[in-house]
Amino acid sequence: MAQTSKVIVDRQNDIADGNASLLPIPKFKTYTICNLRGGIGKTSLAFNLSFGTDDLLVVDTCPQGNLSYFYDNNYYTNNTTTVVDMLLPYFIPGLGHTTRVAKKISPTNQHFTNKNVYYVPSSSGLYMLPSQMANALAQAKTLIGQTQTTAIDSMLLSLEKEITKEKEIVNVERCLIDTSPFFSGATHLACHASDALIVPVRTDQQSINSLNLLINTLSSSTSEFRKNLPSNGHTPKIQMVVLTHCGWSTKVGARNKPNQQTKVYVECVRDIVARSITNFTTTDPDNHILLLDDFLGSGRMSSALSKPISLMNPGDSKFINRTKVTVNESVTKIKSQLKYISDCIW
Ligand SMILES: Nc1ncnc2c1ncn2[C@@H]1O[C@H](COP(=O)(O)OP(=O)(O)OP(=O)(O)O)[C@@H](O)[C@H]1O
Ligand SMILES: [Mg+2]
Repeated sequence: MAQTSKVIVDRQNDIADGNASLLPIPKFKTYTICNLRGGIGKTSLAFNLSFGTDDLLVVDTCPQGNLSYFYDNNYYTNNTTTVVDMLLPYFIPGLGHTTRVAKKISPTNQHFTNKNVYYVPSSSGLYMLPSQMANALAQAKTLIGQTQTTAIDSMLLSLEKEITKEKEIVNVERCLIDTSPFFSGATHLACHASDALIVPVRTDQQSINSLNLLINTLSSSTSEFRKNLPSNGHTPKIQMVVLTHCGWSTKVGARNKPNQQTKVYVECVRDIVARSITNFTTTDPDNHILLLDDFLGSGRMSSALSKPISLMNPGDSKFINRTKVTVNESVTKIKSQLKYISDCIW
Protein backbone atom coordinates (compact mmCIF):
# COMPACT_ATOMS: atom_id res chain seq x y z
CA MET A 1 0.00 0.00 0.00
CA ALA A 2 1.23 3.48 -0.76
CA GLN A 3 2.56 5.16 2.36
CA THR A 4 0.18 8.10 1.97
CA SER A 5 -2.96 6.28 3.06
CA LYS A 6 -1.30 4.21 5.80
CA VAL A 7 -2.51 6.51 8.59
CA ILE A 8 -6.09 6.30 7.33
CA VAL A 9 -6.12 2.53 7.00
CA ASP A 10 -4.20 1.84 10.22
CA ARG A 11 -6.66 3.99 12.16
CA GLN A 12 -9.34 1.42 11.28
CA ASN A 13 -7.84 -1.09 13.73
CA ASP A 14 -8.06 1.37 16.59
CA ILE A 15 -11.58 2.43 15.60
CA ALA A 16 -12.67 -1.22 15.48
CA ASP A 17 -11.19 -1.73 18.95
CA GLY A 18 -12.75 1.49 20.27
CA ASN A 19 -9.26 2.87 21.01
CA ALA A 20 -8.79 5.55 18.35
CA SER A 21 -8.07 9.03 19.63
CA LEU A 22 -10.42 11.64 18.23
CA LEU A 23 -9.41 13.46 15.06
CA PRO A 24 -7.95 16.92 15.67
CA ILE A 25 -10.72 18.71 13.81
CA PRO A 26 -12.88 21.63 14.94
CA LYS A 27 -16.40 20.86 16.15
CA PHE A 28 -19.42 22.56 14.65
CA LYS A 29 -23.12 22.77 15.39
CA THR A 30 -24.59 22.34 11.90
CA TYR A 31 -23.52 19.86 9.23
CA THR A 32 -24.85 19.17 5.77
CA ILE A 33 -24.38 15.67 4.39
CA CYS A 34 -23.94 16.04 0.68
CA ASN A 35 -22.37 14.82 -2.50
CA LEU A 36 -23.77 15.29 -5.98
CA ARG A 37 -24.52 11.64 -6.65
CA GLY A 38 -27.34 9.29 -5.69
CA GLY A 39 -27.23 6.04 -3.76
CA ILE A 40 -23.89 6.64 -2.05
CA GLY A 41 -25.14 6.64 1.55
CA LYS A 42 -26.11 10.24 2.39
CA THR A 43 -29.47 9.30 3.87
CA SER A 44 -28.26 6.13 5.59
CA LEU A 45 -25.46 8.09 7.20
CA ALA A 46 -27.82 10.91 8.23
CA PHE A 47 -30.26 8.44 9.77
CA ASN A 48 -27.62 6.52 11.71
CA LEU A 49 -25.76 9.64 12.86
CA SER A 50 -29.04 11.16 14.04
CA PHE A 51 -29.53 8.22 16.36
CA GLY A 52 -26.01 8.57 17.73
CA THR A 53 -26.67 11.91 19.34
CA ASP A 54 -29.22 13.75 21.42
CA ASP A 55 -30.14 17.40 21.21
CA LEU A 56 -30.54 17.46 17.43
CA LEU A 57 -32.69 18.87 14.65
CA VAL A 58 -32.54 16.92 11.37
CA VAL A 59 -33.67 18.60 8.17
CA ASP A 60 -34.61 16.51 5.14
CA THR A 61 -34.05 18.61 2.01
CA CYS A 62 -34.21 15.73 -0.48
CA PRO A 63 -37.49 15.64 -2.45
CA GLN A 64 -37.40 11.82 -2.41
CA GLY A 65 -38.04 12.05 1.34
CA ASN A 66 -36.22 8.82 2.20
CA LEU A 67 -35.01 10.20 5.50
CA SER A 68 -38.47 11.47 6.44
CA TYR A 69 -39.76 7.96 5.72
CA PHE A 70 -37.19 6.51 8.13
CA TYR A 71 -38.62 8.76 10.84
CA ASP A 72 -42.27 8.25 9.94
CA ASN A 73 -43.38 5.43 7.66
CA ASN A 74 -46.68 7.26 7.14
CA TYR A 75 -45.08 10.52 6.20
CA TYR A 76 -46.07 10.30 2.50
CA THR A 77 -49.74 10.25 3.45
CA ASN A 78 -49.57 12.42 6.55
CA ASN A 79 -50.58 15.86 5.45
CA THR A 80 -47.93 17.69 7.39
CA THR A 81 -46.10 20.95 7.23
CA THR A 82 -42.81 20.44 5.46
CA VAL A 83 -39.54 22.07 4.53
CA VAL A 84 -41.28 23.49 1.43
CA ASP A 85 -43.72 25.47 3.58
CA MET A 86 -40.70 26.77 5.39
CA LEU A 87 -38.84 27.91 2.28
CA LEU A 88 -41.41 28.93 -0.32
CA PRO A 89 -42.42 32.24 1.31
CA TYR A 90 -38.86 33.47 0.63
CA PHE A 91 -39.27 32.90 -3.11
CA ILE A 92 -42.95 33.46 -3.87
CA PRO A 93 -44.57 36.72 -2.76
CA GLY A 94 -47.79 36.55 -0.79
CA LEU A 95 -47.22 33.33 1.12
CA GLY A 96 -47.24 33.56 4.91
CA HIS A 97 -44.36 32.24 6.96
CA THR A 98 -44.91 29.04 8.95
CA THR A 99 -44.81 29.12 12.70
CA ARG A 100 -43.40 25.68 13.48
CA VAL A 101 -42.35 22.75 11.31
CA ALA A 102 -40.06 20.50 13.36
CA LYS A 103 -41.59 17.34 14.80
CA LYS A 104 -40.26 15.10 17.52
CA ILE A 105 -39.24 11.74 16.03
CA SER A 106 -40.12 9.49 18.97
CA PRO A 107 -43.93 9.43 18.38
CA THR A 108 -43.47 8.02 14.85
CA ASN A 109 -40.31 5.92 15.26
CA GLN A 110 -40.26 3.89 18.47
CA HIS A 111 -36.48 3.44 18.31
CA PHE A 112 -36.11 7.15 19.08
CA THR A 113 -38.08 6.92 22.33
CA ASN A 114 -36.36 9.05 24.98
CA LYS A 115 -34.27 10.81 22.34
CA ASN A 116 -34.45 14.55 22.10
CA VAL A 117 -34.26 14.50 18.30
CA TYR A 118 -36.58 16.42 15.96
CA TYR A 119 -36.93 16.54 12.20
CA VAL A 120 -38.26 18.77 9.47
CA PRO A 121 -40.01 16.55 6.89
CA SER A 122 -39.37 16.86 3.19
CA SER A 123 -41.91 17.08 0.39
CA SER A 124 -41.94 16.28 -3.32
CA GLY A 125 -42.73 19.98 -3.76
CA LEU A 126 -38.95 20.44 -3.45
CA TYR A 127 -38.60 19.24 -7.06
CA MET A 128 -39.93 22.67 -8.09
CA LEU A 129 -37.65 24.69 -5.83
CA PRO A 130 -34.68 25.02 -8.24
CA SER A 131 -36.78 26.83 -10.87
CA GLN A 132 -38.67 28.87 -8.26
CA MET A 133 -35.35 29.91 -6.77
CA ALA A 134 -33.77 30.72 -10.13
CA ASN A 135 -36.74 32.93 -11.09
CA ALA A 136 -36.75 34.74 -7.77
CA LEU A 137 -32.97 35.30 -7.85
CA ALA A 138 -33.20 36.63 -11.42
CA GLN A 139 -35.92 39.06 -10.27
CA ALA A 140 -33.81 40.15 -7.32
CA LYS A 141 -30.90 40.88 -9.64
CA THR A 142 -32.99 43.47 -11.47
CA LEU A 143 -33.05 45.52 -8.26
CA ILE A 144 -30.24 47.94 -7.56
CA GLY A 145 -27.88 48.67 -4.68
CA GLN A 146 -28.69 47.66 -1.12
CA THR A 147 -32.19 46.47 -2.04
CA GLN A 148 -30.68 43.83 -4.31
CA THR A 149 -28.28 42.68 -1.59
CA THR A 150 -31.08 42.49 0.97
CA ALA A 151 -33.32 40.50 -1.38
CA ILE A 152 -30.60 38.02 -2.37
CA ASP A 153 -29.45 37.56 1.23
CA SER A 154 -33.01 36.89 2.34
CA MET A 155 -33.31 34.09 -0.26
CA LEU A 156 -29.91 32.45 0.08
CA LEU A 157 -29.94 32.57 3.87
CA SER A 158 -33.59 31.46 4.15
CA LEU A 159 -32.88 27.93 5.33
CA GLU A 160 -30.23 29.17 7.76
CA LYS A 161 -32.71 31.62 9.28
CA GLU A 162 -35.48 29.02 9.51
CA ILE A 163 -33.20 26.44 11.12
CA THR A 164 -32.11 28.95 13.74
CA LYS A 165 -35.77 29.64 14.47
CA GLU A 166 -36.77 25.95 14.67
CA LYS A 167 -33.78 25.07 16.87
CA GLU A 168 -34.85 27.78 19.28
CA ILE A 169 -38.46 26.58 19.35
CA VAL A 170 -37.57 22.94 20.10
CA ASN A 171 -34.59 23.94 22.21
CA VAL A 172 -31.78 21.98 20.56
CA GLU A 173 -28.34 23.15 19.49
CA ARG A 174 -27.21 20.74 16.79
CA CYS A 175 -28.45 20.30 13.27
CA LEU A 176 -27.88 17.74 10.53
CA ILE A 177 -29.14 18.31 6.97
CA ASP A 178 -29.66 15.54 4.41
CA THR A 179 -29.59 16.59 0.76
CA SER A 180 -30.52 15.37 -2.71
CA PRO A 181 -27.90 14.42 -5.32
CA PHE A 182 -28.45 17.77 -7.08
CA PHE A 183 -26.98 21.12 -6.17
CA SER A 184 -29.66 23.55 -7.41
CA GLY A 185 -32.37 24.42 -4.92
CA ALA A 186 -32.33 23.10 -1.39
CA THR A 187 -28.74 21.74 -1.46
CA HIS A 188 -27.54 25.24 -2.34
CA LEU A 189 -29.49 26.64 0.64
CA ALA A 190 -28.25 23.83 2.89
CA CYS A 191 -24.65 24.80 2.11
CA HIS A 192 -25.37 28.31 3.37
CA ALA A 193 -27.19 26.95 6.41
CA SER A 194 -24.30 24.77 7.58
CA ASP A 195 -20.93 25.30 9.21
CA ALA A 196 -19.33 22.33 7.47
CA LEU A 197 -20.03 19.44 5.10
CA ILE A 198 -19.83 15.68 5.53
CA VAL A 199 -19.30 14.10 2.13
CA PRO A 200 -20.02 10.41 1.57
CA VAL A 201 -18.09 8.91 -1.34
CA ARG A 202 -18.85 5.39 -2.46
CA THR A 203 -15.99 3.20 -3.65
CA ASP A 204 -16.65 3.78 -7.35
CA GLN A 205 -15.43 6.15 -10.05
CA GLN A 206 -18.70 8.12 -10.38
CA SER A 207 -18.52 9.04 -6.69
CA ILE A 208 -14.97 10.29 -7.19
CA ASN A 209 -16.20 12.43 -10.09
CA SER A 210 -18.94 13.87 -7.92
CA LEU A 211 -16.45 14.66 -5.13
CA ASN A 212 -14.44 16.66 -7.67
CA LEU A 213 -17.63 18.34 -8.86
CA LEU A 214 -18.60 19.28 -5.31
CA ILE A 215 -15.17 20.75 -4.56
CA ASN A 216 -15.36 22.66 -7.83
CA THR A 217 -18.82 23.94 -6.93
CA LEU A 218 -17.52 25.29 -3.61
CA SER A 219 -14.34 26.81 -4.98
CA SER A 220 -14.64 27.82 -8.63
CA SER A 221 -15.59 31.44 -9.31
CA THR A 222 -17.80 30.36 -12.22
CA SER A 223 -19.87 27.80 -10.27
CA GLU A 224 -23.57 28.30 -9.58
CA PHE A 225 -22.70 28.50 -5.88
CA ARG A 226 -20.07 31.25 -6.16
CA LYS A 227 -22.02 33.26 -8.71
CA ASN A 228 -24.84 33.68 -6.19
CA LEU A 229 -23.14 34.32 -2.87
CA PRO A 230 -24.87 36.16 -0.01
CA SER A 231 -23.14 39.34 1.17
CA ASN A 232 -21.35 37.50 4.00
CA GLY A 233 -19.71 35.25 1.37
CA HIS A 234 -20.48 32.20 3.48
CA THR A 235 -18.79 29.06 2.11
CA PRO A 236 -18.79 25.88 4.20
CA LYS A 237 -15.61 23.82 4.45
CA ILE A 238 -15.56 20.05 4.23
CA GLN A 239 -15.17 18.40 7.60
CA MET A 240 -15.04 14.81 6.48
CA VAL A 241 -15.13 12.54 3.48
CA VAL A 242 -16.67 9.21 4.48
CA LEU A 243 -15.73 6.44 2.10
CA THR A 244 -18.81 4.18 2.14
CA HIS A 245 -19.29 0.56 1.04
CA CYS A 246 -15.70 -0.34 1.98
CA GLY A 247 -14.69 -3.99 1.78
CA TRP A 248 -11.87 -5.81 3.50
CA SER A 249 -9.53 -8.66 2.71
CA THR A 250 -10.97 -12.03 3.68
CA LYS A 251 -7.54 -13.70 3.91
CA VAL A 252 -6.86 -15.43 7.21
CA GLY A 253 -5.04 -13.11 9.60
CA ALA A 254 -5.61 -10.04 7.39
CA ARG A 255 -7.45 -8.06 10.04
CA ASN A 256 -8.75 -4.74 8.72
CA LYS A 257 -6.73 -4.92 5.51
CA PRO A 258 -8.67 -3.15 2.77
CA ASN A 259 -9.48 -5.13 -0.34
CA GLN A 260 -8.08 -3.98 -3.66
CA GLN A 261 -11.05 -1.78 -4.59
CA THR A 262 -11.12 -0.02 -1.21
CA LYS A 263 -7.34 0.47 -1.37
CA VAL A 264 -7.55 2.13 -4.78
CA TYR A 265 -10.31 4.54 -3.72
CA VAL A 266 -8.69 5.47 -0.39
CA GLU A 267 -5.60 6.51 -2.38
CA CYS A 268 -7.66 8.36 -4.92
CA VAL A 269 -9.72 10.26 -2.32
CA ARG A 270 -6.58 11.14 -0.38
CA ASP A 271 -5.01 12.63 -3.52
CA ILE A 272 -8.08 14.78 -4.11
CA VAL A 273 -8.28 15.92 -0.49
CA ALA A 274 -4.56 16.78 -0.45
CA ARG A 275 -4.88 18.76 -3.67
CA SER A 276 -7.88 20.74 -2.44
CA ILE A 277 -7.01 20.96 1.24
CA THR A 278 -7.95 24.67 1.43
CA ASN A 279 -11.58 23.52 1.17
CA PHE A 280 -11.22 21.42 4.33
CA THR A 281 -11.40 22.38 7.98
CA THR A 282 -7.73 21.61 8.77
CA THR A 283 -4.53 21.43 6.74
CA ASP A 284 -3.85 17.70 7.11
CA PRO A 285 -5.60 15.38 4.61
CA ASP A 286 -5.37 12.43 7.03
CA ASN A 287 -7.77 14.25 9.38
CA HIS A 288 -10.56 14.18 6.83
CA ILE A 289 -11.00 10.66 5.48
CA LEU A 290 -12.87 7.94 7.32
CA LEU A 291 -13.93 4.53 6.10
CA LEU A 292 -17.31 2.90 6.63
CA ASP A 293 -17.77 -0.78 5.82
CA ASP A 294 -20.43 -2.00 3.45
CA PHE A 295 -23.51 -2.32 5.65
CA LEU A 296 -24.62 -5.55 3.92
CA GLY A 297 -27.49 -7.23 5.81
CA SER A 298 -27.56 -4.59 8.54
CA GLY A 299 -28.22 -1.91 5.89
CA ARG A 300 -31.11 -3.89 4.41
CA MET A 301 -32.54 -4.51 7.85
CA SER A 302 -32.10 -0.85 8.80
CA SER A 303 -33.99 0.31 5.68
CA ALA A 304 -36.76 -2.26 6.03
CA LEU A 305 -37.40 -1.65 9.73
CA SER A 306 -36.36 2.03 10.00
CA LYS A 307 -34.04 0.80 12.72
CA PRO A 308 -30.67 2.37 13.51
CA ILE A 309 -27.72 0.02 13.00
CA SER A 310 -26.44 0.74 16.53
CA LEU A 311 -29.39 -1.27 17.82
CA MET A 312 -28.46 -4.39 15.84
CA ASN A 313 -26.35 -7.36 16.85
CA PRO A 314 -24.67 -10.19 14.97
CA GLY A 315 -27.14 -13.00 14.30
CA ASP A 316 -30.26 -10.80 14.27
CA SER A 317 -32.41 -11.92 11.36
CA LYS A 318 -35.67 -11.07 9.70
CA PHE A 319 -37.65 -12.03 6.59
CA ILE A 320 -37.66 -9.10 4.21
CA ASN A 321 -39.70 -9.59 1.03
CA ARG A 322 -39.77 -13.29 1.87
CA THR A 323 -35.98 -13.52 1.95
CA LYS A 324 -34.17 -14.10 5.21
CA VAL A 325 -31.73 -11.28 5.95
CA THR A 326 -29.15 -11.81 8.67
CA VAL A 327 -26.89 -9.32 10.41
CA ASN A 328 -23.34 -10.65 10.34
CA GLU A 329 -20.32 -10.11 12.58
CA SER A 330 -19.21 -6.99 10.69
CA VAL A 331 -22.01 -4.99 12.34
CA THR A 332 -19.89 -4.68 15.48
CA LYS A 333 -17.19 -2.86 13.53
CA ILE A 334 -19.75 -0.70 11.68
CA LYS A 335 -21.19 0.38 15.04
CA SER A 336 -17.70 1.44 16.17
CA GLN A 337 -17.13 3.33 12.91
CA LEU A 338 -20.43 5.20 13.23
CA LYS A 339 -19.74 6.06 16.86
CA TYR A 340 -16.27 7.34 15.97
CA ILE A 341 -17.64 9.61 13.23
CA SER A 342 -20.22 10.94 15.66
CA ASP A 343 -17.66 11.48 18.47
CA CYS A 344 -15.38 13.36 16.07
CA ILE A 345 -17.95 15.80 14.71
CA TRP A 346 -20.01 16.88 17.74
N1 LIG B 1 -21.12 2.06 4.34
C1 LIG B 1 -22.31 2.41 3.93
N2 LIG B 1 -22.75 3.67 4.13
C2 LIG B 1 -23.96 4.05 3.69
N3 LIG B 1 -24.83 3.25 3.04
C3 LIG B 1 -24.45 1.99 2.81
C4 LIG B 1 -23.19 1.53 3.24
N4 LIG B 1 -23.09 0.25 2.89
C5 LIG B 1 -24.23 -0.08 2.29
N5 LIG B 1 -25.05 0.94 2.23
C6 LIG B 1 -26.36 0.89 1.57
O1 LIG B 1 -26.32 1.74 0.43
C7 LIG B 1 -27.57 2.37 0.24
C8 LIG B 1 -27.36 3.86 0.27
O2 LIG B 1 -28.58 4.50 0.04
P1 LIG B 1 -28.92 5.95 0.57
O3 LIG B 1 -30.39 6.12 0.36
O4 LIG B 1 -28.37 6.16 1.93
O5 LIG B 1 -28.11 6.83 -0.47
P2 LIG B 1 -28.29 8.38 -0.83
O6 LIG B 1 -26.92 8.89 -1.12
O7 LIG B 1 -29.06 9.06 0.23
O8 LIG B 1 -29.14 8.32 -2.18
P3 LIG B 1 -30.05 9.49 -2.84
O9 LIG B 1 -29.08 10.49 -3.42
O10 LIG B 1 -30.85 8.79 -3.87
O11 LIG B 1 -30.88 10.10 -1.76
C9 LIG B 1 -28.49 1.89 1.36
O12 LIG B 1 -29.21 0.81 0.89
C10 LIG B 1 -27.48 1.44 2.44
O13 LIG B 1 -27.98 0.41 3.28
MG1 LIG C 1 -30.87 10.13 0.16
